[in-house]
Amino acid sequence: MCGIVAYIGQQQATPIIIKGLKRLEYRGYDSTGISLFNGSELHTIKTMGKVSDLVAKFESLPPIAAQIGIGHTRWATHGVPNDVNAHPQKSNTGDLVVVHNGIIENYASLKEELIHRGYTFSSDTDTEVLINLIEDVQKKEKVKLGKAVQIALSQVIGAYAIVVFDRKKPNELIAARLGSPLAIGVGTDEFFVASDATPFLEYTKNVIYLEEEHLAIIRSDRDVSIRKITNDKVIKPYVEELQMSLENIQKGGYDYFMLKEIFEQPQAIRDTLRGRLLSDEGVINLSSLREHENKFLKAKRIIIVACGTSWHAGLVAEYLLEKFTRTPVEVEYASEFRYRDPIIFPDDIIIAISQSGETADTLAAINIAKERGAFVFGICNVVGSSISRLTDTGCYTHAGPEIGVASTKAFTTQITVLSLLALHLGMVKGTLSRSEYQHHLLELESLPVKVTQILEQESLIKDVAATFREASNCIYLGRGYNFPVALEGALKLKEISYIHAEGYPAAEMKHGPIALIDEQMPVVVIATKKGHYDKVVSNIQEIKSRKGRIIAVVSEGDIRVKELSDHCIEIPESLECFTPILATIPLQLLSYYIAVQRGCNVDQPRNLAKSVTVE
Ligand code: F6R
Repeated sequence: MCGIVAYIGQQQATPIIIKGLKRLEYRGYDSTGISLFNGSELHTIKTMGKVSDLVAKFESLPPIAAQIGIGHTRWATHGVPNDVNAHPQKSNTGDLVVVHNGIIENYASLKEELIHRGYTFSSDTDTEVLINLIEDVQKKEKVKLGKAVQIALSQVIGAYAIVVFDRKKPNELIAARLGSPLAIGVGTDEFFVASDATPFLEYTKNVIYLEEEHLAIIRSDRDVSIRKITNDKVIKPYVEELQMSLENIQKGGYDYFMLKEIFEQPQAIRDTLRGRLLSDEGVINLSSLREHENKFLKAKRIIIVACGTSWHAGLVAEYLLEKFTRTPVEVEYASEFRYRDPIIFPDDIIIAISQSGETADTLAAINIAKERGAFVFGICNVVGSSISRLTDTGCYTHAGPEIGVASTKAFTTQITVLSLLALHLGMVKGTLSRSEYQHHLLELESLPVKVTQILEQESLIKDVAATFREASNCIYLGRGYNFPVALEGALKLKEISYIHAEGYPAAEMKHGPIALIDEQMPVVVIATKKGHYDKVVSNIQEIKSRKGRIIAVVSEGDIRVKELSDHCIEIPESLECFTPILATIPLQLLSYYIAVQRGCNVDQPRNLAKSVTVE
């Protein structure tokens, strides 16, 4: 949440920062701003709205020639989105500016103290408190900027990724993080700081991912120097080579990233399987599991923690892992798990699932599990993310950058990894026979082709969407493996089209939700052959008798459900456990086209941000 971009070097900072902010808009887009230093003056331009609004503001101003600057795109936490609350935030003298991603939880008491000492505040943000605290430390302790930031941060409770600039030290940026990510791009006599590496992809492939509680002093004429905030320990920077390309983060001819990412799924699933599903040898190879396999085999219980769509992938995993390994699985919202004093035994395995690898609640849940001695396995998409580094081991999904706020390819690739894990463990544990194992591997390999077949129905799904674009409510139903798919379908619809949608296990209808059914209510039913078909057909009949309008996702060649439904979308047959990967695809397209036809910006739905780094 919130995107940070900063530049120091020989090039013009403005275009680099603006382009970078546009790439980070997925992290927040309610207000934005930049501070630039032109050698004598510090200019701060801010606006409510998107980076395009900021660009319009710049166009009305004389150009600012600056080789150093910091920028921000905001997802509001403290204070409504407006020009004043937008970042950068200034200190009282106007010398210091900061951009911040995170929350300063004790900002109220710090603010009170600063007011007592004569400081005034113009915004409602916690960030303005932080920059004045830094200024206060600078004045009181007579220390350099880096040290002042370090001392101020040691008084802060909360989470932050910050970049600070002092116009009295115009060749230096200070960056620090706790709980929110920061990447430093290392060029020749120039440096970039950003919430992820995408803003500097075309300038350098060398990146330092700042670690938790680390502070970096960045000067264009020197190497980056890093120290630990808590104890001054000097850290040797670890420079990694970025594997991402510019093409990965561009729309590539699609109207929205979400559509591009939906269509990338066949390749994303192939990439997830690559090197892990060794079809010639008929085995699964999960190198990260190798030395920890015993822990999984001995575990009495697996607890999955995640949020949102990743939590839905966790629900699918519950079915997969229990079926193939016969180990009990619990799936928890990370945000609940962290605060309910959970019972965790040292021989429990925790699986944390997160696309971004930065979700604050999931990170906190992992910390609790680790404190209590559990082994934590991570499933992340973003390489080098906080969760991937905090967990004991894990697997990347290798889906490539997911930029659309609504998660699509992350979900299907998470289930792909979880399928590999469950099948592999089932095989070594002996709870899955070799022939069943081989049969599942063959089917797993065929999934990308089947996903492509579903995507070929895009125009049919677009037509179905046109029929439902005026709906104000929608119900999604599924049973067994298709229940999490119903939840995921409903989440996709509500988050991008603002239509109220709920997912239920189909049999739960008669315990309440059936009261909602009338001729206005669209009901999306996942009624594939392998998912308790006859039972679901009965549920469809119950809806039909109450005049509900049915959109069904069915297996190829289905006749019975087709007769009962208003609209039908066919998906290829597969083994029951892999149906979620296939059945999700038409629901993603359905939500996408309903949202587009309602005139919604699907990549930037209101009130949302891609990476939820605040709790
Ligand atoms: C929904 C969506 C969110 C995320 C959730 C967790 O489309 O994207 O519900 O799934 O915020 O995010 P990660 O997976 O990054 O931990």
